[in-house]
Amino acid sequence: MLKKTVEDALNKQFNAELYSSYLYLAMAAYFESVPLRGFARWMRIQSKEELAHGMKIYDYIIEQQGSPKFPVIEAPKTPWKSAGAVFEHSYAHEQKVTGMINSLMDLAVKEKDYATQNFLGWFVKEQVEEEANASEILAQITMMGDKPGILFHLDHIIGKRE
Ligand SMILES: [Fe+2]
Ligand SMILES: [Fe+2]
Repeated sequence: MLKKTVEDALNKQFNAELYSSYLYLAMAAYFESVPLRGFARWMRIQSKEELAHGMKIYDYIIEQQGSPKFPVIEAPKTPWKSAGAVFEHSYAHEQKVTGMINSLMDLAVKEKDYATQNFLGWFVKEQVEEEANASEILAQITMMGDKPGILFHLDHIIGKRE
């Protein structure tokens, strides 16, 4: 059973993960329009992963006899000016999400909710990977320059994401 404070905070994170999914899908659509299909594919897979993060929280809330909430999902701010701008946004977004997960963990510690602390451990680890992925691609684009020839080459590599 969850304390009300923890349940509310988990519901906020559930919504934030759905927003992340929505954001990455908007980024996928941007890349489809360029068109850079490899980047679009990467973003589409990322969007699915974020939905899976949301569902992990949804399942946990139910398992703990709470109720998932469904407020409005914020609209992503589109469009972007360049591939580099998309990955700058993505990296900044992941850093923000890491901060949110850390605050959730702080709350679970404060409330002595050991089950939720254990549950959140997966997200703490996942955020390290999420930040690393976004920052690596951003660094590659920044290093090589946001130019068509380079982007088509990167598009080919990044589009191999499983
Ligand atoms: Fe996520
Ligand atoms: Fe993420």
